Amino acid sequence: MLPNIDFTTTQAYQYLTDYFSEIEPQQLKDLFISDSQRFSKFSIQFEDFLFDYSKNRVDDKVIALLVQLAKECRLNDAIEAMFNGEAINVTENRPVLHTTLRNQSNEPVYVEGKDVMPEVNAVLQQMKTFSEAVISGEWKGYTGKPITDVVNIGIGGSDLGPVMVTEALKAYKTRLNLHFVSNVDGTHIAETLRWVNAETTLFLIASKTFTTQETMANAHSARQWFLDSGAQEADIAKHFAALSTNSAAVAKFGIDTQNMFVFWDWVGGRYSLWSAIGLSIALGIGFDNFEHLLGGAHAMDQHFRNTDFEQNLPVIAALLGIWYNNFFGAESQAILPYDQYMHRFAAYFQQGDMESNGKYVDRNGEVVDYQTGPIIWGEPGTNGQHAFYQLIHQGTKLIPCDFIAPAQTHNPVGEHHTLLLSNFFAQTEALMNGKTYEEAAAELKAAGKSPEEIEKLAPFKVFEGNRPTNSILAKKITPRVLGSLVAMYEHKIFVQGIIWNIYSFDQWGVELGKQLAGKILPELRTEDKITSHDSSTNGLINQYKAWRS
Ligand code: F6P
Repeated sequence: MLPNIDFTTTQAYQYLTDYFSEIEPQQLKDLFISDSQRFSKFSIQFEDFLFDYSKNRVDDKVIALLVQLAKECRLNDAIEAMFNGEAINVTENRPVLHTTLRNQSNEPVYVEGKDVMPEVNAVLQQMKTFSEAVISGEWKGYTGKPITDVVNIGIGGSDLGPVMVTEALKAYKTRLNLHFVSNVDGTHIAETLRWVNAETTLFLIASKTFTTQETMANAHSARQWFLDSGAQEADIAKHFAALSTNSAAVAKFGIDTQNMFVFWDWVGGRYSLWSAIGLSIALGIGFDNFEHLLGGAHAMDQHFRNTDFEQNLPVIAALLGIWYNNFFGAESQAILPYDQYMHRFAAYFQQGDMESNGKYVDRNGEVVDYQTGPIIWGEPGTNGQHAFYQLIHQGTKLIPCDFIAPAQTHNPVGEHHTLLLSNFFAQTEALMNGKTYEEAAAELKAAGKSPEEIEKLAPFKVFEGNRPTNSILAKKITPRVLGSLVAMYEHKIFVQGIIWNIYSFDQWGVELGKQLAGKILPELRTEDKITSHDSSTNGLINQYKAWRS
């Protein structure tokens, strides 16, 4: 059972509320001046990455109180409940055991009294055998040619994780070309199929439920395209595999269940890249690298489970998020990787975080009177600098940012990486220090401006600063480092959900739109004038009908 505690009634919350008024006016740069140990005190090294949280608006007392908050919310009990397979996804009555998929210690994990590790290992073995056969060319298409292209058809958690990881680890690419189709917009599948050959293409139909409308529509179109290209029904076995929990639906679709890679309902969709859903990852970067990814995540799992909160990366990251979300009133959190390969990292955690903690009902079924999950967004640096950083530096909103960068690049081109990193370091410093009126005026004076011009222009050139950031500096983005990083963010989301007293592992909020689309679909199939909705929806549907042909 998860604890059920309103964090706003804890002693720590009260102390934090009182102390907030003392901390809020303080300048980060002054906190550095008054404490020479600040960097070493507020940074944590984990294997090959360093998490520096010293540029946050905290001091020893804030961290101690935040840790007390986690303890009062019985975070330890919640962590154990998750790892031990208790049904903590209460509204779906399921355990939450994505950690089991990367449990390289192989210690038994029980679900309803049965150790699930043998099944987990069997699927990993099946993925290894299959991916190695496809990569080596031993697995042949229906005309005897090796596979050259893999098309993963899935959406949400059955797409975003594999896309993010295979992009982030493109430096480890096998000879296979990967393609991902997610959108039900026919453009996505049409544009993908234009570039592949049926004789040498493998389709992975990735869907936990195997009922998702978008995925099924794309899968049926891919199947039809395959047959229209001259293949026979019997050839499907060589070109279609299913990654799913739903064997009956896979068989009904016509995929040989020999070509099915299973996972289990205790794996949430947005936590499924570690499961059979990761087959495209194994094909794209090789099974050994997929295992290193799992290994990195497992190492973070152990750290999360066994480390005191003061030194616990996901816990500290989560508590800082709560500090800004619930005390400073920050509404969003930016994730800014200074690594082009990681360009889908923020998009991945948009689902990871917002689908998990975008909830206004607590674990008692009551509407909360405090803020829960933040808006997650971000783009790789330095592109973001030339687009939206203006608002982070001088806007009216407080946006805590995570900056991520590797010390070593996979592509040492001239001085590019040094240029990139100079921006990475400069941005967090600039966000913290800002620029005073006096500094702005002095710069204008040095540029030859008159006193009148200085007076006019200086206010626009002032930066308040005091904008908080975390810096995550990795030695290199390897499969192991990426696995640890992803697991760190996963557990951060878990910790925040525990403290906000919400259920982080369901996603009922996506259902209403699906239901209504299901009702509207038959209305779009006729030419009848529609009057069954509000005037806006009726008007839009009827205009669409007038224009559609
Ligand atoms: O609609 C949301 C969702 O259920 C996500 O949670 C999930 O990752 C996605 O749809 C895809 O679901 P499936 O893997 O069952 O096709």
